[in-house]
Amino acid sequence: MKKIISLCAALAMAGGMTAQTHTLDVNTTKVGAPIASTMYGIFFEDINYAADGGLYAELVKNRSFEFPNHFAGWDISGQVTLKDDGPFKKNPHYVRLAPSGHRDKYTMIENHGFFGMGVKGGQEYRFSVWARVPDGGTAKLWVDIVDNATMGDDQKIGNVGVEVKGKEWKKYTAIVKPNRTFAKAHLRVWGDAKVTTDVEHVSLFPVDTYKGHENGMRKDLAESLEQLHPGVFRFPGGCIVEGTDLATRYQWKNSVGPVEDRPLNENRWHYTFTHRYFPDYYQSYGLGFFEYFLLSEEIGAEPLPVVSVGLSCEFQNGAERSDAHVPVDQLQPYIDDVLDLIEFANGDPDKNMWAKLRADMGHPAPFNLKYVGIGNEQWGAIYPENLKPFVEQVRKKYPNIKIVGTSGPNSEGKDFEYLWPEMRKIGADLVDEHYYRNEAWFLGTPDAKKRWGNCGANRYDSYKRGKGEPKVFAGEYACHGDGKKWNHFNAALMEAAFMTGLERNADIVEMATYAPLFAHVEGWQWRPDAIWFDNLRKFNSCAYYVQQLYSVNKGTNVLPLTMQGKPVAGNPDQDGLFASAVLDKNTNEVIVKVVNTGDKPQPITLNLKGMKGNHTAQLITFHSDDLTAENTLEEPEKIVPKTSELTVTAPLQDITVPARTFYIYKIKK
Ligand code: AHR
Repeated sequence: MKKIISLCAALAMAGGMTAQTHTLDVNTTKVGAPIASTMYGIFFEDINYAADGGLYAELVKNRSFEFPNHFAGWDISGQVTLKDDGPFKKNPHYVRLAPSGHRDKYTMIENHGFFGMGVKGGQEYRFSVWARVPDGGTAKLWVDIVDNATMGDDQKIGNVGVEVKGKEWKKYTAIVKPNRTFAKAHLRVWGDAKVTTDVEHVSLFPVDTYKGHENGMRKDLAESLEQLHPGVFRFPGGCIVEGTDLATRYQWKNSVGPVEDRPLNENRWHYTFTHRYFPDYYQSYGLGFFEYFLLSEEIGAEPLPVVSVGLSCEFQNGAERSDAHVPVDQLQPYIDDVLDLIEFANGDPDKNMWAKLRADMGHPAPFNLKYVGIGNEQWGAIYPENLKPFVEQVRKKYPNIKIVGTSGPNSEGKDFEYLWPEMRKIGADLVDEHYYRNEAWFLGTPDAKKRWGNCGANRYDSYKRGKGEPKVFAGEYACHGDGKKWNHFNAALMEAAFMTGLERNADIVEMATYAPLFAHVEGWQWRPDAIWFDNLRKFNSCAYYVQQLYSVNKGTNVLPLTMQGKPVAGNPDQDGLFASAVLDKNTNEVIVKVVNTGDKPQPITLNLKGMKGNHTAQLITFHSDDLTAENTLEEPEKIVPKTSELTVTAPLQDITVPARTFYIYKIKK
């Protein structure tokens, strides 16, 4: 229903409150800095079972029997032996299923999945296995999807047979259709009662993955990413890029090529927090760099891979331990990894082996990589020392690739102050900043400024800009509520308020990515997170919706917006208000974002300078009466943005922004 909002109506909506009316001046004709297409993006790390057990749709854990405990995640019964001369060099283990010699004693292996396996009744699942009959001939494997938790009359909820023929290793596939939905299923593979059979890389995927890829992504989770319309996709971490030691850093070359031959790596989130310890958390690399690039392309985001700078995690090793860090004169293999990565993404398959591998994997066209991050949360003099030769060699060969450096793990302080000038000197194109901070930091309260210095929505107002100045990449941030109410509405509101400052400073902020992205409700190590899931369900958090609202309403250019001549950034005389405005040249809309973080409704006169008359508009409202409320698996849409149509009068329009509310006006010019 269309409505014209009058001042009287606004005051009535305000419930008789007598807060002072503020005037927000938006100059709709003074088109400011362009907003980078990368401005709002996503940051993916395999933390909280985000990859294996999450986005990566494989349902079998330890499918190649390569975990240090080779039967981790498996129950075995009968004559099962582990062997290590399998067909895949980097994953040599497999199991031999031999008959017991007794008719009633079965040989069987059963996989528990990741907190069980979520299967949907009536849907198809692709079972696959590499197998052979070592003595020749034919053997039959029976494959069951079972519910041995709720235990009906029959544990089997899906079943299929696979015939294995001959002494050579071959891949066999079969489709199995469970007859009902179950979140905690297991996969059982029975050996032939009479014939010894070897099995390796035992896998079960839903057929219905995102975009239908066989080695694909869980559809519902990938759709959440797509619906964020991210401009940039940073992967594969975070701390896992660095590794607890150099040997366990993320090595992208291990993550490409046939999945069966991608070696297992540990996942540091297995042991980082003893209060959330997950001894069965490893990286299969099934979701590897090819899949990351492909996903970037499919969700429309610029890929931003991050690579090791030859420094393993400084949190865990300090800057001193020489065995944890590669000396500058031994960095060449690490630098080659970056140069080869650029070829893998962009090179000509006829001229480069890594580009050829990309083509062989099904993507002859380049991925059009433009950015590369070198190092994550590094600090101290060792970082610029190591970074320098990377920058020199990448620049020389690929002058158009933008290099992202880091400013350490904190938003301020000694290391941060040291690194920014170093990044300038080295010529980094962007500097990655991280801040997991409380409400006061995001609001930029006077107390927070005393404690942390530069924080809140005017953080970037004072940043140097101009030729040669690196741009900002707010690469990891989230409001971590002091009261520890994870992912509640108030934390998201604080982020919305802060993000007006990112938008207002879009001339120097080129990218921003909330973190972390995903968490399994049973397997998290770190929270809050943007998207939560279990084996069958998901919900988008309030933080997710704030990211989405900014991303889909980012516009193309900043418009000047002030209150009494000042940016609206929660300054002490601004009654908890934050605001920013953009023009979208594509839709010819003026988009005004206003966040009222206060506990009173705020009457506002919107002064749309340069516009006249009535204009059709949309108002998007993100609000919850209960600040501690959050979305859950049971109530995934408890708090979601709501859109209404209205008419806005220009130049002067009176509005009232309810307490604790994020409003977005989209006004047709
Ligand atoms: O997002 C979780 C972790 O936080 C990242 O791995 C790291 O970069 C930061 O410390």
